[in-house]
Amino acid sequence: MECNTTFSSEVLVVLTGEPKWGGAMTSKPVTDWKTDYDILDSDYVADPYPVWDDLREQCPIAHSDRWGGSWLPTKYSDITRIAHDHQHFSSRDVGVLSFTDEERPPPPIEIPLPPIDADQPVHTWTRRLLLPWFSHNRVDQYEQYTRDLCNQLIDGFIAEGRADAAGQYARQIPVRVIALILGVPGEMADTFTGWVQDVLEFAHDQARSSAATDNITNYLFGQLEDRRANPGDDLISDLLHAEVEGEEISDLQIMGMAALTLIAGVDTTWSSIGSAMLHLATHPRDVDRLIAEPELMPSAIEELLRAYSPVTMARIAVDDIEVAGCPMKAGDKVLMNFPAANRDPEVFDRPDEVILDRAQNRHLAFGVGIHRCAGSNLARMELRVSIEEWIKRIPSFRLADNAEVTWAGGQVRGPRTVPVTF
Ligand code: HEM
Repeated sequence: MECNTTFSSEVLVVLTGEPKWGGAMTSKPVTDWKTDYDILDSDYVADPYPVWDDLREQCPIAHSDRWGGSWLPTKYSDITRIAHDHQHFSSRDVGVLSFTDEERPPPPIEIPLPPIDADQPVHTWTRRLLLPWFSHNRVDQYEQYTRDLCNQLIDGFIAEGRADAAGQYARQIPVRVIALILGVPGEMADTFTGWVQDVLEFAHDQARSSAATDNITNYLFGQLEDRRANPGDDLISDLLHAEVEGEEISDLQIMGMAALTLIAGVDTTWSSIGSAMLHLATHPRDVDRLIAEPELMPSAIEELLRAYSPVTMARIAVDDIEVAGCPMKAGDKVLMNFPAANRDPEVFDRPDEVILDRAQNRHLAFGVGIHRCAGSNLARMELRVSIEEWIKRIPSFRLADNAEVTWAGGQVRGPRTVPVTF
């Protein structure tokens, strides 16, 4: 599809290589999603699916100058192709928003977050160091802790007959499990969550996201010092003793891997659990079915991940390259719209329906290719256990007021407030 023929002159500036940033970071309403989408538009954040359906039909790879300029593929085939082509699409800048040096001065030290923002060869060895911490065996060891945690949270509100299933439940779970893995105090959960939220949800707010990055960095460097003196059975201690080809790894790389674990392991799973709770609160028959047929849980988890995928990443085109008729220039940003791929009717029958026993479900919620999520076993366990414990204790619940549901979007999309009664 030659959708670039419909580009406005503003978009052609990008294609001719002139400055990409020309006051496009405004909040003016979107009139043409093909050439001027805004991933932070509040209606889009709350319900992006109709936009993706239209784009898939009319212009499967859209373009916008907003937020530093990017391409937005919407088809499973294009997104899969780009994700697999790590030679031509680098992960050196995976943030969905871009800023010029004037808008966001670079930090004194560039903080790496390997393996997610690394290309090969750094990607290979940093990923290899993290993977054992999220193996099936390890994740089994975190399950009872997660189950107990869910029950403590439910104990805190069950007598009220109402709760915010996002704020009081979903938000509280992943951060505490990640704290356990990193060997940092669970009592600091709210602080960690705030930092991660500032980095991801408030990435457009320069002061807020920079301060949070500094806080995470300083805190984790302190933890490295502490763990040198008092090693424990945790990821940071493990990385301090790791060697790659006989060499120790630098403190900066260790800190970066620990920071990624925190950033990647909190908001993502919190958003998935929150979306699952919202779905169940509005589809009581699905709750009844899960209670009556618990063997459906594994396929139900995959289906909830597919239908409400939270994560969009970015790639940078290494050279000029054409994808599905769209002429991308070296340095262009492409948004890996995994959530849109998962609603592509060419791949998923009745994509907008949640079918708990869907048989064919090769969804891309965890990405695909060399950067596929390293924490997927953990995410699946947390999602399963949080639903199992909730429906065991609160088998009948409803969304209290749809108007009170709020959303966060951008890099990670998920509900932030889900008021339920039971
Ligand atoms: C439902 C929850 C989650 C979702 C939907 C999710 C999604 C993703 C996606 C889409 C990617 C691919 C990035 C890319 O292609 O650029 C990714 C990578 C990654 N995720 Fe997750 N994630 C989740 C939970 C977690 C958890 C709990 C952890 C644990 C710390 C984690 C750690 C990672 C890491 C380390 C990477 C980088 C892998 C690499 O670059 O090789 N994620 N995740």
